[in-house]
Amino acid sequence: MRDEGEWWATAVVYQVYVRSFADSDGDGVGDLAGVRSRLGYLELLGVDALWLSPVYPSPGVDHGYDVSDPRDVDPLFGTLDDFDGLLSDARRHGLRVIVDLVPNHTSDQHEWFRAAVSAAPGSPERSRYHFRREPNNWQSVFGGPAWTRVDSDSAHSEWYLHLFAPGQPDLNWAHPEVREDLEKTLRFWCDRGVDGVRIDVAHGLAKAEGLPDDRRQPGWTVVEEDAPDPRFDQDGVHEVHRLIRGVLDHYPGRMAVGEVIVRDDARWSAYVRPDELHLAFHFGLLNCAFAADEIRECIDRTLAAAGPAPAVWTIANHDVPHPATRYGSVERARAMALVTLALPGTAYLYNGEELGLPDVDLPDSARQDPAFRLSGGAELGRDGYRVPLPWEGEAPGYGFTTGTPWLPMPSSYGELTAADQLEDPSSTLSLYRQALDLRKQHPAFTGDQVEWFGAPEGCLAFRRVGTTLVCALNTSDRQVPLPPGDVLLTSGDLTDCGDLPPNTAAWLA
Ligand code: GLC
Repeated sequence: MRDEGEWWATAVVYQVYVRSFADSDGDGVGDLAGVRSRLGYLELLGVDALWLSPVYPSPGVDHGYDVSDPRDVDPLFGTLDDFDGLLSDARRHGLRVIVDLVPNHTSDQHEWFRAAVSAAPGSPERSRYHFRREPNNWQSVFGGPAWTRVDSDSAHSEWYLHLFAPGQPDLNWAHPEVREDLEKTLRFWCDRGVDGVRIDVAHGLAKAEGLPDDRRQPGWTVVEEDAPDPRFDQDGVHEVHRLIRGVLDHYPGRMAVGEVIVRDDARWSAYVRPDELHLAFHFGLLNCAFAADEIRECIDRTLAAAGPAPAVWTIANHDVPHPATRYGSVERARAMALVTLALPGTAYLYNGEELGLPDVDLPDSARQDPAFRLSGGAELGRDGYRVPLPWEGEAPGYGFTTGTPWLPMPSSYGELTAADQLEDPSSTLSLYRQALDLRKQHPAFTGDQVEWFGAPEGCLAFRRVGTTLVCALNTSDRQVPLPPGDVLLTSGDLTDCGDLPPNTAAWLA
């Protein structure tokens, strides 16, 4: 049995992509007052906590993941008072709040980086980042070289490292002030009362010693595709995670969940050792196709990698296509929601997932993600799954804004509004509400492990060990009989003879 204080071990957390959630002032961009106005909806949905995407002062080249001051709120989203108001209102609705910290890099408008650019090569100001006389061959995650040149008119010009956009210079984690500043930021938000932090790019907080060339990249003498990535998952990151844990341990009930993108499961496991992150996203399930065998293998791998730490399940976030698009249909997305919410551990939902929203095919002129521009259009970027949420009504804006939404909302979103779905017992929103209610109320949603039943080809069925809860999924193209038990919930109608149709999941007990 887990300690009551470990609320995060089983919680369902709802990711609010603040820009796209609810706009209170008609500027077309969601804000904190907008989130505040929709807390009743989140309570009705039945989630336990919200994770707010970054709302700190930022030029917005990566929509808030380029932070110029980690201890304030950008006027676009409101003020620190709005934040405090949101926090206390959230409490009244029984919701906890997690903030998103971005320690791998700052904005190029952060005072440290501005000072670094104004200072001379070799200066202490530059030592908080990675400045070099010559760049190495590293590539940015968004496409193109990971280095940009400064003071190019001088004979002593240097280049700085940015694993993401040029407006996101990477911090030098070997520098003591960089560490002290993160401790300060953690205390700042914990003192305000947040319940946890998400650590962005948690696998990036140390670079390979000496910044050697990437042997996997063209330009290296003989390209070695399997060589380790010198940009990420260096042993030095663990010291930083111990530092984060050291601060959080002074605040009972608070937690850190890391974005950990590491392929090797043994290396991944190291991030959730008892003195490091409380939780980490594994992303195995997120990258799985809608195929029972693959899903089953991903579930086993994720549970094994987490070991004694709670597993974190997610099928959606602001960086991947919406499940209704990725899996090929909303029926499949609904089935996967039941699989995810039946598993032991904690589950993270992404706003709009509960409405079954599909991606939006935007015109290039509307695209804002740096990944689109920096890849020269080879990547369409992530805007298509960041389009604002349709709340109500028939008119464009759909209750998200009275102004012009920052990304165009298609008329098809008018048929998927939260208001309409609340009234419709067969809607995706109603399915999520029932699933979350059962997960909270039904005694069978306990236990840390799953056991597998034999299932027809293209299907899977598991039970939570020590309980009666069974989840069955049919990814084949034939209807199949259900395992024994009373049906608690299905993601779609059963056939007339009570079989589980294709693209459908069921909970039984
Ligand atoms: C993480 C975020 C992503 C962001 C990147 C750089 O992967 O989830 O949205 O672009 O970090 O901060």
